[in-house]
Amino acid sequence: MKGKFIAFEGCEGAGKSTQMRLLSEWLTLRGIPHILTREPGGGAISEAIRKIILDGKNSEMTDECEALLYAAARVQHLADTVQPALARGETVLCDRYIFSSFAYQGYGRGLSLDFLKAINAYAIENYMPDVTLFLDIPSSRAFARKHGADPNDRMEQAGEAFHKRVYDGYKALLAAYPDRMFAIDCAGTKFETSARIVEFLQSRGYFG
Ligand code: TYD
Repeated sequence: MKGKFIAFEGCEGAGKSTQMRLLSEWLTLRGIPHILTREPGGGAISEAIRKIILDGKNSEMTDECEALLYAAARVQHLADTVQPALARGETVLCDRYIFSSFAYQGYGRGLSLDFLKAINAYAIENYMPDVTLFLDIPSSRAFARKHGADPNDRMEQAGEAFHKRVYDGYKALLAAYPDRMFAIDCAGTKFETSARIVEFLQSRGYFG
């Protein structure tokens, strides 16, 4: 069976990495080959770009530069990690992808979605995920879960109002891309959320 490209989205602390790990365990039990990767990062060059983007010392970075660096990291990540895995027939579980750029740089920073689509055209045209799962927890609750923002992380330091715009942005994206992006209710335990994710993927005929 051809591998699926599955992206996870959500606010900081929404539980993406926990849910990716639980889904990975479920896939492993069923012998389904897959990789876990993340953006920005997922390869040596992209991880180096990640350090520049998130470095709390880079407070002078313009919003446009930030958006371009995320797009650059993405192109390299596709070449280094995503494309080879899909070519091997493996499923790719990716922590954040293009909708993070729309939510954070678009709705959060206020850049136009047209600019973001233009600089991400390569990814949009060639590598749109089969499905994007949005772990639905308001930013305020998600931050409380992770005990506040990391002082060394430039994005986490962007402030409450910024992260509220990001969450509202995700909601707008869900409405704009109803056949690509799906909300997963995260109100229960991590195991209940994980069961919902599996149920949703199977309802689409994946990993039957
Ligand atoms: P991540 O490591 O997933 O943060 P966390 O696990 O704490 O949610 O992502 C790093 C940060 O980069 C996060 O603040 C979201 C941001 N980001 C963007 O602003 N645009 C993007 O395109 C991507 C991929 C991430």
